[in-house]
This record gives sequence, C-alpha cells and structure tokens, in this order.
Amino acid sequence: MITAVANTKGGVGKTTTCIFMARAAIDSGQQALVLDADPQGSASAWTDIVRGTDGQPDWETRSVNLHQLRQFAKSPTGDDVDVFIDCPPGNPEIINAAVKAADVVIVPTQPTTIDMDRVWTTVENLGDTPCVVLLTGARLGTKLLDEAREALRDAGLPVFTTVVPLREDIRAAFGTVPTKLHGYNDVLNELKDALRG
Ligand SMILES: Nc1ncnc2c1ncn2[C@@H]1O[C@H](COP(=O)(O)OP(=O)(O)OP(=O)(O)O)[C@@H](O)[C@H]1O
Ligand SMILES: [Mg+2]
Repeated sequence: MITAVANTKGGVGKTTTCIFMARAAIDSGQQALVLDADPQGSASAWTDIVRGTDGQPDWETRSVNLHQLRQFAKSPTGDDVDVFIDCPPGNPEIINAAVKAADVVIVPTQPTTIDMDRVWTTVENLGDTPCVVLLTGARLGTKLLDEAREALRDAGLPVFTTVVPLREDIRAAFGTVPTKLHGYNDVLNELKDALRG
C-alpha cells in the first residue's frame, strides 16, 4: 500500500503522521518505507537523529526529488512494504506526483476553521486518488472537534473515525522511535479496511 500524506498547509502533522504510520505498519507485521518528498527534509532528519541516538530505526527513509518520485510510481514495492510519502506543504508539482503514485491520500488537519479551509483546496486537486481526512492535534470531547467532523461529513469527505489527540509526547517524538502510537495503529487498520472496500 502506498499512502501519500498531503495538505497544502504547513505544520498540520504530515511528517509526524508518516513516521507514526510507519511504526504502526511495522507493528502490524509489515515493512515500512517513508519517502521524504519534502525538500525541508524533516522525515529524513527524524530518521537520521534516531540513527544517531536511539540506534537503528526499523523503518527505512528515502529522500526523493520530483524525478525519483515519478520513477517510483512506475516500479512500486512489494505488498509486504507499506509506503508513506511525506509531502511538502507548498509544492504542487511534488504533491501531484506523490498523489499519482499513491493508492490513497491521508489529509491530516487540526479541527480548526482556519486549518480546515485548506483541506478543501487540498482535496480538490487529488484527481482520482481517494482520500481520507485525519483529524489530528485535537482536543477530544470538544465542540470544535464535533463541528469539524460534521463539516467534513456534510462535504461528503471520508474521515477517519479515529482522532489523533493533541499530546505533548507526540510533539516530543521528533527524532525518536515512537512507542505509544496514540491511535495511529487504528488509523492504519481503518485505511486498510477502506482500501479493501
Ligand atoms: N498530535 C499531535 N499533538 C501534539 N503535537 C503534534 C501532533 N502532531 C504533530 N504535532 C507537532 O506539530 C508540529 C508540526 O508537525 P509536523 O512537522 O508533523 O507537521 P508538517 O505538516 O509535516 O509540517 P510541514 O508542513 O512544515 O512539513 C510539530 O512540532 C509536531 O511535533
Ligand atoms: Mg513535514
């Protein structure tokens, strides 16, 4: 399964989602490959820091430019590898190439109006690739979260039942091997169920 993680807005949790999903995939018995398509290189930096401190990350991270991303789409990996493509926030060409290479797109967003506005513009440009919106960095049990979910459903957009909460230990996870997955394993199960139809 190839999953692009995309949102044209910055700082919504794309890189965090890629790495946590990679860990979740490994926990489910798969291998995991993170394609770092963001010139900022955050996913690569995350993995490099793990290598320098915690030891050996059990996911692989590969930095890819536009050309390499397009090549990857032509020769995908085997079924035992789950691939997560970390997209940059503001490069439509790269986002398009990632979306084209992917079976499905996760669009992470915080449940605030200003963040949600960018979900609409992101999903308008996904072509035929299906997407699922992931509410993340959310305070559970709030009206804001209920309203965000309702707005997405009203717009006919698929949304994960699982919500990733706002957690200090997720914020502090950069450069470490995530242990507690805060629902990302449920997100993976939902994603696989959705793709199985
Ligand atoms: N569920 C969460 N709870 C708390 N902090 C979070 C959560 N998810 C992400 N963060 C934090 O939010 C910030 C932005 O996350 P991240 O870097 O994953 O976003 P991004 O969309 O990849 O950003 P960019 O567009 O710059 O690539 C980081 O400091 C990260 O640790
Ligand atoms: Mg990022």
